[in-house]
Amino acid sequence: MSGRTDSGTRVAEDFTATWAELAPTGLRADGGYDRFAWTPADLALRDWFRRAAARRDLALEEDGNGNLWAFWHGPEGPEGPRRVVATGSHLDSVPAGGAFDGPLGVVAGFLALDLLRRDRALPPGRSVAVACFVEEEGARFGLACLGSRLLTGAFQPARARELTDADGVTLAEAMAAAGADPSRLGADEARLAAIDAYVELHVEQGRRLVDLGAAVGIASGIWPHGRWRLRFAGEPNHAGTARLEDRRDPMLPFAEAVTAARVAAAVHGGLATVGRADVHPNATNGVAASVEAWLDARAPDDVALGAIVADVRARAGASAADHGVRIDMRQESATPAVVFDEGLRRRMAGALAPLAPQASHDAPGAPPWGGSVPEIATGAGHDAGILAARVPAGMLFVRNPTGISHSPAEAASVSDCVAGVEALARVLGELAWGLPTPSPGP
Ligand code: GLV
Ligand code: MN
Ligand code: MN
Repeated sequence: MSGRTDSGTRVAEDFTATWAELAPTGLRADGGYDRFAWTPADLALRDWFRRAAARRDLALEEDGNGNLWAFWHGPEGPEGPRRVVATGSHLDSVPAGGAFDGPLGVVAGFLALDLLRRDRALPPGRSVAVACFVEEEGARFGLACLGSRLLTGAFQPARARELTDADGVTLAEAMAAAGADPSRLGADEARLAAIDAYVELHVEQGRRLVDLGAAVGIASGIWPHGRWRLRFAGEPNHAGTARLEDRRDPMLPFAEAVTAARVAAAVHGGLATVGRADVHPNATNGVAASVEAWLDARAPDDVALGAIVADVRARAGASAADHGVRIDMRQESATPAVVFDEGLRRRMAGALAPLAPQASHDAPGAPPWGGSVPEIATGAGHDAGILAARVPAGMLFVRNPTGISHSPAEAASVSDCVAGVEALARVLGELAWGLPTPSPGP
């Protein structure tokens, strides 16, 4: 990508300073981040977002779902008919998460907007917005992309209010405790109708860009994926006296489910993970009473995804029957495959072509219509994938040298983040000035 220019140096300085502002919030002793929706860490990050908007004289809005929006309005201010080009991401994390998943897209959004504003004014009737979505990871209330699902009507507010965290606190209670009004949850059709495009920048969560030698890539789509909750109920007993044949040990079908997930993912060409489990009562010298576990499964298509889940269900069910354990396996969420808007991807590729003049049009991963920035699919979920059902949506990825994500090892170099900001600014510029805006009226 481009060599460091004066503008690039300024972006690098601004990026480093902004990153330092966020760095302490939610940081654990082990170097990971705990930034869960509506907790003190999240509230501090939301305040940071408000300050970042105020420093730039952006108009701040909080929608009924708690998603934050910072608007740069055209010359006539916030009044009148308006079309919106939006970017953004999320500030919450998984448990012990990395620094980049989410915050990079929000910070890049503000810095890209700064770049655009340095030498241009928006056309009348056009706004550019930076958004921050609530509970993207689903780490607290179990449902990923909760803020964007509610915004788009993909999840019902009554069910959302009843979602509980690990301590039994409902979303409604958590919002109320944070001073937000849970009765306002729900779809926001007017907000969606004004959005001409949403482009989310995100740290890459795998190794494709490393392998391709590219700092920035365009997302082609997202694999279908979902979460299933498995409950195994057995009988607690003494580890030193209960005969093996008398036991009803829920750990055994649980273990079978974990290995079945791994085997099924390999057989069907997808991914399946059991990364979360609660054992009750969690005693060293006792047969467990119950185990609750979560399966996260993803695949290139619905058939493969269905086959993975069916295999896990069958093997865990058979093992539970063998061991006299009751099993309950139910889907908690499902996200269909996403193919990002082809017209938007073409526009993005065209806008980014000048940033990589050295790359040829038939470079590995290049989009079929030309352009030198690679296109890659991902198995990770994103708010852009939820919004894609309602508005033209797209994504940019920034290279992650470790290829690791949802871990403190997640990384991106400052120069790649600057390349990402410059790429995002080009894309937003292409959309904000290139897409039709409403006529000014009589
Ligand atoms: C979100 O990062 C997800 O893919 O689970
Ligand atoms: Mn994530
Ligand atoms: Mn993310």
